[in-house]
Amino acid sequence: MGRVYEPAEDSLLLLRHVEARVHGSVLDMGTGSGIQAVAAASKPEVSRVVAVDIDAGAVEAARRRAREAGVSGKIEFRVGDLFEGLGGERFDWIVFNPPYLPSEGDADEASWAGGQTGREVIERFLSRAARFLKPGGGILLVYSTLTGLDLGRVEASYHVEVLEERPLFFERLFCVLLRPRQPFLRPR
Ligand SMILES: C[S@@+](CC[C@H](N)C(=O)[O-])C[C@H]1O[C@@H](n2cnc3c(N)ncnc32)[C@H](O)[C@@H]1O
Repeated sequence: MGRVYEPAEDSLLLLRHVEARVHGSVLDMGTGSGIQAVAAASKPEVSRVVAVDIDAGAVEAARRRAREAGVSGKIEFRVGDLFEGLGGERFDWIVFNPPYLPSEGDADEASWAGGQTGREVIERFLSRAARFLKPGGGILLVYSTLTGLDLGRVEASYHVEVLEERPLFFERLFCVLLRPRQPFLRPR
């Protein structure tokens, strides 16, 4: 188990938009400390949250946070790699503050290392996310200029709206709203 991600600027950036936008059913991908899951579950207009993390220690920390906030009844916790284990579930919103920094080899932790280029986890996420959204659903995603994400490529599959941009010392952070260009149709 790695270190549970302590909420930072990127978490707070996403949090503002989770608080402002989500409703219905919410998938909190990479829940970490559970900050987004608990904020979503605290909204009366959110009926249910599924909180997923690849790190069992993070899921335990998120479970604790939810208990302390009195919202455990609305959140289901799962340990897994991205969408594995979610079967055919669909959500109104998916929120993800992913690990987005390039790998540093042995020192890597799931909380920040997004693969060799920093984009691998995000790209795997984006290649599957649309099929887990209900029609009309949206994704709130955070990324950094250090990620080197090719927005042009993302735009081939999603309408992209930049909701907020935040300059930090060595990078700029973005929170974007993504909506699939085509709803994912289940095979009959
Ligand atoms: C930057 S932290 C964000 C934590 C929290 N959501 C927040 O906003 O503070 C990224 C989280 O994604 C998790 N994660 C990394 N790779 C993952 C994967 N393949 N599947 C699910 N979770 C993953 C990490 O364990 C970590 O908790």
